[in-house]
Amino acid sequence: MTKKILRALAGETQATPPIWMMRQAGRYLPEYRATRAEAGDFLSLCYNSELAAEVTLQPIRRYGFDAAILFADILLLPQALGADLWFVTGEGPRLSTITTQAEFDALKGIDHIHETLNPVYETVRILSRELPEETTLIGFAGAPWTVATYMIAGRGTPDQGPAHALMAENLAVFEQIIDLLTDSTIDYLSAQIEAGAEVVKIFDSWAGSLKGEAFDKYALAPARKITKALKAKYPHVPVIGFPRQAGDNYIGFARATGVDCVAVDDSVSPEWVAKHVQPDGCVQGNLKSSHMVTGGPELVSETRRIVETLKNGPHIFNLGHGITPDADPENVHLMIEAVRAGN
Ligand code: CP3
Repeated sequence: MTKKILRALAGETQATPPIWMMRQAGRYLPEYRATRAEAGDFLSLCYNSELAAEVTLQPIRRYGFDAAILFADILLLPQALGADLWFVTGEGPRLSTITTQAEFDALKGIDHIHETLNPVYETVRILSRELPEETTLIGFAGAPWTVATYMIAGRGTPDQGPAHALMAENLAVFEQIIDLLTDSTIDYLSAQIEAGAEVVKIFDSWAGSLKGEAFDKYALAPARKITKALKAKYPHVPVIGFPRQAGDNYIGFARATGVDCVAVDDSVSPEWVAKHVQPDGCVQGNLKSSHMVTGGPELVSETRRIVETLKNGPHIFNLGHGITPDADPENVHLMIEAVRAGN
């Protein structure tokens, strides 16, 4: 196995960790903004396989990252299930809301998702032909809880209040949404793997607002069910879990779910991750994204600190969350040089 990402995911400790970056194809890159303008808007870009493959490749060409992540969005799945989806410039996603049994019943069955998502699988097929042979192709989906927070509220919410409210007021509908998303995510990720994804990542961006038993039921259990189903069909395909801001719930997450790697955000220190998470296997993270805006010696020293602290176990270098549109593309070079400089 020669690909550095796959070696890390198989548990190998490497002198220089492999590196990629969340949201590496994005608005901080002028070439992304140009291709997005050519596509018309963000969703048209997601469903245009040629152009989605092109923006996926842009950061690989510019920086030589060890992994490419499929260009798509976690909200394409609810759209494929029948929710209306649109993006308001400068504000973010909007969806038709699902809070009642009747609204849930009006969604399409799982078998229909591929009608909408076929262009995404075509993007994966193009990428698996065009990527350099050392670059690993990562597919992804949102975790059921995170996707449900958008489906229930109809938009991003700072505290996921509407989803917590539905859990309290109509548990039956809430759990049907989680179950539908869990099962359709298995099918969605399976189709990405069939098309050529070599690794899949489950983004649970809002896992941090689930506490105690709710974390076990709505973050752990769905991740376990998805991972188990994928492993039964594709035992060789590694799974990365990202229960963002899980705090103490990062501990034991890999063992409880079966994921091969836990991605950690920057609210936990690399020292803590080395002590509590890395003993269970590969970890991914966790430079604060704001360093990509501010740069300078602190970017370099923080990058080195993370690499040094996590060097005694399997590690994939990444940010703690996505790179932001105001980041300076030059700072990405600085970060990569700092990761690769040590050895
Ligand atoms: O990482 C990558 O480069 C791959 C592509 C990718 C996108 N979204 C492209 C995107 C991935 C993996 C995602 C995941 C995603 N989408 C998450 C989970 C990860 C996270 O960031 O927490 C979430 C919560 C979403 C939902 C979403 N999509 C929101 C809230 C927004 C608006 C916020 C924003 O940055 O504008 C998006 C839009 C989006 N998804 C953009 C990109 C490149 C920006 C859209 C644009 O070009 O205008």
